Amino acid sequence: MKKIRVELDSRSYGILIGPGLLGQAGQWLKEVCSGDRLVIITNHVVQGLCSNRLSESLSGAGFQVTVLTVPDGEEYKSLDSAGRLYAELTGAYAERSTPILALGGGVIGDLAGFVAATYLRGVPLVQLPTTLLAQVDSSIGGKVAVNHGQLKNKIGAFYQPRLVISDTTVLKTLPEDEFANGLAEVVKSAVIRDGDFFSFLESNLEKIKQRDEDVLEEVVFRTAGIKADVVAGDELDLGLRNILNFGHTIGHAIETNTDFGIAHGQAVSAGMVAAARIARELGILGGGELARLTRLLEAIGLPVAIKGLDSDKIIEAMKHDKKIVAGKIRFVLPRAIGDVFVTEEVSLPLVEKALGG
Ligand SMILES: NC(=O)c1ccc[n+]([C@@H]2O[C@H](COP(=O)([O-])OP(=O)(O)OC[C@H]3O[C@@H](n4cnc5c(N)ncnc54)[C@H](O)[C@@H]3O)[C@@H](O)[C@H]2O)c1
Ligand SMILES: [Zn+2]
Repeated sequence: MKKIRVELDSRSYGILIGPGLLGQAGQWLKEVCSGDRLVIITNHVVQGLCSNRLSESLSGAGFQVTVLTVPDGEEYKSLDSAGRLYAELTGAYAERSTPILALGGGVIGDLAGFVAATYLRGVPLVQLPTTLLAQVDSSIGGKVAVNHGQLKNKIGAFYQPRLVISDTTVLKTLPEDEFANGLAEVVKSAVIRDGDFFSFLESNLEKIKQRDEDVLEEVVFRTAGIKADVVAGDELDLGLRNILNFGHTIGHAIETNTDFGIAHGQAVSAGMVAAARIARELGILGGGELARLTRLLEAIGLPVAIKGLDSDKIIEAMKHDKKIVAGKIRFVLPRAIGDVFVTEEVSLPLVEKALGG
């Protein structure tokens, strides 16, 4: 097992990463939770796959467990779902000291986290992420939210968990496309902060694809460590966290223009290549490094360009993105693999050229 500590004064918390950890969750929860009652929020897919080992461990540690489920899907990350969960929590006599365990991918993590942040003005939250994306990205950093109308992820809070337990064994059942989605964020993290880790990914790609437990533990540990480090330096998203948006400025615009018909990881993959091409055109990034990024993403099975995009519409969508400051589009560009910087000085023709392939 590997451990990371996210340093945020009184809100500091640990991240535990390793195979089979859900089967030991009871003992770790004893250390961070008072009382003997817990509520798990999950969906039926994850419940069927993961909850047995967890429940045994929790009852073995003396906890009384209530399980609440929401249907599977991004559309259930909503105020309606939160409302239903508040009623069910009340029905289960959950109190201010009753911890909520978010067992699932980023959708469950965001929704259960939002409910934990708001029910009785806040109850203890524990994240038990079960997708690669949730283990390396969404369970860390304390952003919890629901969607509401056109407001995606915009009704929410900063609310830190007491503990994150990432059991890498559960990643074996993830569908291929969900796994690739998570790998896009893994590659992103390596590019923004850690060139050695990028080389590790290149050398171990076959084992990663086979979901070798030891290699996955290392991948989650290194990626979660990068996110933990960045968010600890910028708890409320006022500056440093910008670098986590590498590939996301163009990526979000691609998602909007395809009516979210394309997966987030695929859009981010194409967005990272476009940003690297911009850096290459500006003479900042070497051709060899652009080629390494493209090769790794292709080898993972992620797209490096999206066919049939209308670059005018993409630029229009970027102008409406929340990362715009005073009308300028903010880009995160690589200087090298492992080092990025933030700039608002990219000309639109250059963006068009980068999108054109
Ligand atoms: N809070 C943050 O900082 C943050 C960061 C990034 C993304 N997000 C949010 O995360 C969400 C996306 O998360 P996601 O990619 O995990 O999607 P998801 O939660 O929808 O999970 C993807 C699918 O995998 C299933 N699943 C979960 N665990 C499984 C397992 N072990 N085996 C098999 N199937 C499993 C889920 O039921 C679902 O069908 C979005 O709503 C996004 O806005 C939040
Ligand atoms: Zn992302």
